Amino acid sequence: MPFKLVNLGSACIDQVYRVPAFVTGGETVASLSHDTFPGGKGLNQSLAAARAGAAVHHVGCVGPDGEPLRAVLRSAGVSVDGLRTVPDRPSGHAMIQVNEQGGNAIVIAGGANRCISDRERSCARRLLAPGDWLLLQNEINDLPAALELAAGTGAKVAFNLAPVDGREADYDLAGVDLLIVNEIESRALVPGPVAASDDGTVARWLADAYPDMEVVLTRGALGLVHAGPDEDRMLGAFPVQAVDETAAGDAFIGYLLAALLDGVGMNEALLLASAAGALAVTAPGAASSIPTRKAVGMLLETSGQTVRGSPVSS
Ligand code: RIB
Repeated sequence: MPFKLVNLGSACIDQVYRVPAFVTGGETVASLSHDTFPGGKGLNQSLAAARAGAAVHHVGCVGPDGEPLRAVLRSAGVSVDGLRTVPDRPSGHAMIQVNEQGGNAIVIAGGANRCISDRERSCARRLLAPGDWLLLQNEINDLPAALELAAGTGAKVAFNLAPVDGREADYDLAGVDLLIVNEIESRALVPGPVAASDDGTVARWLADAYPDMEVVLTRGALGLVHAGPDEDRMLGAFPVQAVDETAAGDAFIGYLLAALLDGVGMNEALLLASAAGALAVTAPGAASSIPTRKAVGMLLETSGQTVRGSPVSS
């Protein structure tokens, strides 16, 4: 694969609690189990893209406790030369409740993910060449500067506005080539009357507002809407038994970017990514649930689908 993915992104230590039902205000519940997993939207997406076969550079910050995060990226073949250890902040972490239906409720603490500086932005910029993609999520600091850093490099920019936290009101998306949002995230970017409309209308509104930007609006078990330059398209989800939905969106994004880097067309890339996202739901944890390329190919094959660049056809 001649082009590469540069992910200026987060990495987190996930504390995952299985609960009978999400805890509510004033309540204390005993968890059914507790596990610690590598996670963070950035790390999960880097890992997914690497498992899909892309050359990936993960740029960001971890704390002195971040060695396991660095190790999991490295073992997947991701370059971590641009992952800096900051001495005075812990790594980002997430507290994740997973209920019996496999749904989740997540609280994140930014930690070292909020120490991104000019050093990381310059590092990411130096790596970018024409044909590459820069990938960003909303778990780091100074997104307005990050959204501009690829200008003039010939690289494309993919932005996963996750999670929304109010900062997005100040973002200029004019330099974004591909926006990936879920239903909640998409509503944070559109005016009130548009927000009340259906997902297809919201995706089209965003694509019209930023004519150089394609929009993928993910809808969980309902699939996705893609608003592209020429046409809009809906794609259903692969039906699976949900164990833990955490990182399904990250698996989707990593596989999508890897396929685009490999020259796969958007429609096929979305199919491949959907299969990866579906499989991530069937396993516990975040990074640990990202499927292998072989597993994704098998799901496509058993569903009667073929995608150029998928393991069964490449
Ligand atoms: O998208 C899932 C991720 O969100 C988890 O790994 C957690 O770290 C949070 O960032």
